[in-house]
Amino acid sequence: MSDRNLLLIFGTETGNAEELAEDAGHLAGSYELIPTVMDMEDISLATLSTASRLIVICSTWGEGEQPVNAQDLYDSVQESDEGLMDGVNYAVLALGDTAFEFFCESGKEWDGILEEKGGTRVNDRIDCDLDYDDYAEEWIRTTLEIMKRVV
Ligand SMILES: Cc1cc2nc3c(=O)[nH]c(=O)nc-3n(C[C@H](O)[C@H](O)[C@H](O)COP(=O)(O)O)c2cc1C
Repeated sequence: MSDRNLLLIFGTETGNAEELAEDAGHLAGSYELIPTVMDMEDISLATLSTASRLIVICSTWGEGEQPVNAQDLYDSVQESDEGLMDGVNYAVLALGDTAFEFFCESGKEWDGILEEKGGTRVNDRIDCDLDYDDYAEEWIRTTLEIMKRVV
């Protein structure tokens, strides 16, 4: 029997990614999923790597840098062994601003490192500019529908 769990993690400085993760969590029940929304700062590598379904929502700060609450987790994943993310079905929503040179760089990094460590990308990443509301919601609904069917 497969579980119905969905882990949603957010990397944020001013709350946009957190708000989207909470919204997605509220929607998840309609897709027969049991959501857990967590700050990247509060999650262990063990919990991350044993998730069967994972949605990453992360903004970019500085000049293409991870938000402060995301940096340690990102570094841990990067330093981890090959295959750590085997069995993790994931998708990434990146928040950013096209006015910056390194648009949505953190989300791109998450998308890349999760695949490199063995995760399975189940939906293409979306890179959101500041007017992300409608695009993000559509992507979240599509991704939840996909997540409902995996595992
Ligand atoms: C000081 C500052 C630096 C930023 N740097 C980048 C950047 O390098 N690349 C990018 O795509 N967006 C950048 N952004 C835009 C943020 O990622 C965007 O506003 C996002 O929605 C913030 O989400 P959050 O509240 O979850 O942190 C920056 C914003 C600020 C204020």
